[in-house]
Amino acid sequence: MPHTIAIDGYSACGKSTLAKAMARQLGYRYIDTGAMYRMVTLYFQRNDIDISDEGAIAGAMERIKIDFVPGSNDALLNGENVEDEIRGLAVSNFVSPVAALSAVRSAIVPQQRRMGEEGSVVMDGRDIGTVVFPNADLKIFVTADMDVRTDRRLAELEAAGQMADRQSVADNLRERDYIDSNRADSPLRQAEDAVVLDNSNLNLEQFIARGMELARAIPKQS
Ligand code: DC
Repeated sequence: MPHTIAIDGYSACGKSTLAKAMARQLGYRYIDTGAMYRMVTLYFQRNDIDISDEGAIAGAMERIKIDFVPGSNDALLNGENVEDEIRGLAVSNFVSPVAALSAVRSAIVPQQRRMGEEGSVVMDGRDIGTVVFPNADLKIFVTADMDVRTDRRLAELEAAGQMADRQSVADNLRERDYIDSNRADSPLRQAEDAVVLDNSNLNLEQFIARGMELARAIPKQS
């Protein structure tokens, strides 16, 4: 029976690193749901969509087509590869208010369910175990200390050639945590049946090994 694995947690905790590695080892598909909200945000920025204008949002959601490049998993917005652009601070600074909009979530969540309905999928985000796939076979809630998270996000941005100072990266993470956890629609919460995986003191190999142990422990009949 193909399994559905839900990985949730705060920003820059290592969710996507874990999800990608587990998907590769299990031969499952990886779905980055944060990238979907990032693509919507980029579209809104490029097209000057006012996020207090419900009509403009509804119209924009009809014009947005979200896909991923098979194999590389790069983000495709209306056929354009926007993988690099959606990872920059301009999108990161604006994505949480966009992801808090019910008109956006109600368009995106059904797509996520369709992408994952056949199972054999590892999906990461904020509401996967609570809202998108409440019956997932395994739910992991990833956490890490704020300092560790800031260092990791800085390293990621630097690797992508994007300049950022430590304080603005930390401020952005705190602000996103706050908005993601306090929004009315599908706030970030740990599902009651999620396993918490704190990786502050784990190296990459140990972190992935722990995730794989949990995946191997999923009962066969589930
Ligand atoms: O995982 P990420 O940093 O790429 O996510 C970008 C934003 O999208 C984040 O601020 C929260 C939001 N998000 C969400 O609300 N629900 C999801 N399932 C995934 C991401």
